[in-house]
Amino acid sequence: MAKKVTVVGAGFYGSTTALRLAEYNIFDEVVLTDIVEGKPEGLALDMNQSRSIEGFETKITGATTTAEGAGYEKTANSDVVVITAGLPRKPGMSRMDLIGVNAGIVRGVAENIARHSPNAVIIVVSNPLDEMTALAQIATNFPKNRVMGQAGMLDTARFTNFVAEKLGVEVGTVKTLTLGSHGDTMVPVPSRCTVGGVPLSDKLSQADIDELVDRTRNGGAEVVALLKTGSAYYAPSAAAARMAKAVIEDSGAVMPVCAWVDGEYGISGVYLGVEAEIGKSGVRKVVETKLTDAEVASLKEAAEAVRTKQADVKDM
Ligand code: LAC
Repeated sequence: MAKKVTVVGAGFYGSTTALRLAEYNIFDEVVLTDIVEGKPEGLALDMNQSRSIEGFETKITGATTTAEGAGYEKTANSDVVVITAGLPRKPGMSRMDLIGVNAGIVRGVAENIARHSPNAVIIVVSNPLDEMTALAQIATNFPKNRVMGQAGMLDTARFTNFVAEKLGVEVGTVKTLTLGSHGDTMVPVPSRCTVGGVPLSDKLSQADIDELVDRTRNGGAEVVALLKTGSAYYAPSAAAARMAKAVIEDSGAVMPVCAWVDGEYGISGVYLGVEAEIGKSGVRKVVETKLTDAEVASLKEAAEAVRTKQADVKDM
């Protein structure tokens, strides 16, 4: 069976994700869509011309789409769909400030995708992440395991980078974890962080750890403030692409993602950042990890914060 992935939205996040996926050379086709006429076709043409240099055979197809659903035929029967559509933040904005405008965009995209790829696994990256993931599930009416959001991989990668830089060690020796929401109630989990197998608390003072946790929580805003227009995309696209790879390879990789939680940690009925095993059905299962009482309390706080907002999106 031909392996096909669609990336909706040809901004920096979407186009970088599409190129990463193509360069893996594990898909037959990567479809990149956008509502800006000619942009996805132009980017696809350019990416295809890099294939002989970078040595990958995956074909990239560009498709201009409309809100009414024109152009979506080219996305038909995708195995995985990454939704990046929507506006990014501007300096000073929180992710939540985007909810009104992005809800309309994500709902329309999700409905069109569901019509053409009824069996796809959906990976949402649009902000505010936890709410847009919940909305995509409502709009597609897909089983909850087949809709997930990208955030934990990104937040974890940021945390890892900050720890490695602080200690002057290779990123490969650092393991960190970030759960909760992709927003104010993000829950970096220092108790699960190690450097060369040694607990982070043996390597850094509590004050230093607190500072890195804080920087992680504001990791997206720090990039937005520097760029001034647009938000981060290199680390975010790396995270989204790895999730799509785990789906298509049915790898069972365990990664922090925004998944539907149904009883884990005593939390139910909400999309939340947790560790999950990823395969061709999307989330195979949420993996509960050992947390301190304080971390579980923070996770519950995050769940309640996103629950209220997620209840609102069904009417948006
Ligand atoms: C970030 C955006 C993509 O965290 O949510 O950079």
